[in-house]
Amino acid sequence: MIPFNKPFLTGRESQLIEEAMSLGRLAGNGEFTKKCHEKLSADYGLDNCFLTSSATSALEMSALLVDLQPGDEVIIPSFTFVSTATPFALRGAKLIFADSRNEHPNVAVAELKRLISDKTKIIVVMHYAGMACEMDEIMELANQKGIVVIEDAAHCIGSNYKDRPLGTIGHLAAFSFHETKNISSGQGGLLVVNDKKFLDRADMIWDRGTNRKAFNQGKVSSYSWHDHGSNFYPSEITAAFLLAQLEERTFIEESRKRIWNFYAERLKSLANIGYQLPKLEEYQSNNHHIFYLICPSKEKRDGLIAHLRQQDILAVFHYLPLHSSAFMQSKEEEIADLPNADFFSDHLVRLPLFVELKEEELEKVVEAVLSFS
Ligand SMILES: Cc1ncc(COP(=O)(O)O)c(C=O)c1O
Repeated sequence: MIPFNKPFLTGRESQLIEEAMSLGRLAGNGEFTKKCHEKLSADYGLDNCFLTSSATSALEMSALLVDLQPGDEVIIPSFTFVSTATPFALRGAKLIFADSRNEHPNVAVAELKRLISDKTKIIVVMHYAGMACEMDEIMELANQKGIVVIEDAAHCIGSNYKDRPLGTIGHLAAFSFHETKNISSGQGGLLVVNDKKFLDRADMIWDRGTNRKAFNQGKVSSYSWHDHGSNFYPSEITAAFLLAQLEERTFIEESRKRIWNFYAERLKSLANIGYQLPKLEEYQSNNHHIFYLICPSKEKRDGLIAHLRQQDILAVFHYLPLHSSAFMQSKEEEIADLPNADFFSDHLVRLPLFVELKEEELEKVVEAVLSFS
């Protein structure tokens, strides 16, 4: 079977984990967490970093930071992973779902304009496949109305909007280091705090709602409970694993780029028979996180997945729209019609893409796709 994903190991993980073990401080927020924060700043331009145990928990930290009140509205794309929404549902916000653009799964700016109300407190954007949303327009819209923008940058490590790294533009941003992501620590995540007004509370929320940071810095004689919070940070073992991956950024990026470009070149003829291949806008860069095809119909998409499966190739669809999920239906609220989110859910397929995908396996995938369509 050619799997859809195979987590890449650099070979340095166990060495760094042993180093972490030898330091005798395993619980987190130690030397290796610090080294990851420094590397994320130096290599990716991400400052004010807080490693977390997942992107989901980084988004939960963001929801706590914004201090949502009952009745506040949060605008969220429908075509995204459930974790883009659950942190805000947990805080009691009213979720307002926005549709995708016609040409790309990313949220449409016109939709945000349509949905903003006096109650809108947050807009969450998700950059699908590491391809940026229209951030200048979105930030202008939000800043005019005092709305907080949170980037769900789960797919985005190493990708840019124009010349700015994704995850540095919204007021807050969340990355994932889940095993399916370009850089992984098995499970893992990161909150980036770009609006400094959130920084002091982020320190406390990250560490169970306490002022332990001030205590560690010798500013107070004991630490105690000051705010909401949780145990958001990963262990030093996880941070050591992540550091090994961050160190191999160039090799990982080059390998994924080679595979992505191979698909794009060898499958481009599909555009003549009704398929859409990923097309990047000028403002988008590509971190080669996902190679997707948009099929001419749902029947074709499901048929292609089944055809590839018969040939021992695992290709997968992507998100089921959140606006019509069982959870939202159970709320008995009116369910909006979001045709583009439904369209991408029904037509999109992702092909295997991982560092160790071999030339002959790539050839096999391409031939299998071409022989179906
Ligand atoms: C868009 C998006 N947001 C959030 C997440 C959650 O990431 P994690 O598994 O690190 O919590 C994912 C996971 O794949 C995702 O695709």
